[in-house]
Amino acid sequence: MSSAPSPPRPPRRPRYRGKNPRRFEEKYKERDPQRYGETIAKVLASGKTPAGTHRPVMVQEILEVLAPAPGAIAVDCTLGYGGHAQEILARISPSGRLLGLDADPIELPKTEARLRSLGYGPQEFSAHRSNFAGLQKVLAAAGLTGADLILADLGVSSMQIDDPSRGFSTKQAGPLDMRMNPARGQSASAFLRGIAAAKLARLLEENSDEPQAERLAAALAGESFPTTLSLASAIRAELSRFSEEAVELTIRRVFQALRIAVNDEFSALDSLLRQLPSSLNPGGRVAILTFHSGEDRRVKKSFASGREEGLYSQISDEVIRPTSAELNANPRSSSAKLRWAKRP
Ligand SMILES: C[S@@+](CC[C@H](N)C(=O)[O-])C[C@H]1O[C@@H](n2cnc3c(N)ncnc32)[C@H](O)[C@@H]1O
Repeated sequence: MSSAPSPPRPPRRPRYRGKNPRRFEEKYKERDPQRYGETIAKVLASGKTPAGTHRPVMVQEILEVLAPAPGAIAVDCTLGYGGHAQEILARISPSGRLLGLDADPIELPKTEARLRSLGYGPQEFSAHRSNFAGLQKVLAAAGLTGADLILADLGVSSMQIDDPSRGFSTKQAGPLDMRMNPARGQSASAFLRGIAAAKLARLLEENSDEPQAERLAAALAGESFPTTLSLASAIRAELSRFSEEAVELTIRRVFQALRIAVNDEFSALDSLLRQLPSSLNPGGRVAILTFHSGEDRRVKKSFASGREEGLYSQISDEVIRPTSAELNANPRSSSAKLRWAKRP
């Protein structure tokens, strides 16, 4: 007598100590927002970002600037969790179309599935695993000559920061990786092992205005740091006389500088800025959210020279900042700066 094979067991839910899960791997409810809406609402109300999600920054301001209308062609250069994209899609539908680009092959399929589950089919929304430096190629491959509105929300998503296995977190143990696309280029660990002190010092200054650049570069360049926490401890050891707050800020600046270098973020941004005027349809608008001075300087300069050359008819005179209500509700918006430009 043959017995039917028993059905596969469902995976055991992660066990955690205490009342609430603390580690990313344990926050299985937060990572399944469709199923556990109540948990998500509680986490949001406490001012935190649920694990595996991202809270879009300055949504109202971006919608005002881009003014998405039914039928518009939109490009979100940094799709992330699709928070901004979702809001834009709701306003350009049913006849509009949004192309969402992201360099991250791990999060992109999840976001594509999420937006599909909201009812956006391939005519309205397409996901493209591409660096935004390839904007014009993506537009051409989609049979488009330009877009009516373009958004770029620079940097990393909360999903990337909060997942220790991506190596962006300064607080949680993980491999020192920091690549948005882990299949391309060098990890931050390999990058540090192979760099000379003088070059690292320059990079710490240029990428995050690090005041201790030379000293830290001498201690870190050419050394082997396989994990996020081993790098953080080495910085702590080097600055043992500094206050705890100063050390934490330094750790964040060093991680930021490495992330920018490993992902070649400034070259990608410069390339995007060069392509923008010819990627916009007449009257089209672009909005860019930046999170540190190196990014904002580039955007400001490019928009200003674009206006002088007549490539843009209007640009934001002043940088736009999050409201105090948003700053309170979402501390991750604290360094956000929004600028926009409009094509004649
Ligand atoms: C701040 S998040 C965007 C969040 C998104 N606006 C939302 O509402 O969910 C930035 C995203 O841009 C992506 N990214 C960063 N640099 C990129 C580049 N050069 N090309 C394409 N994607 C990039 C990251 O992988 C990340 O998913």
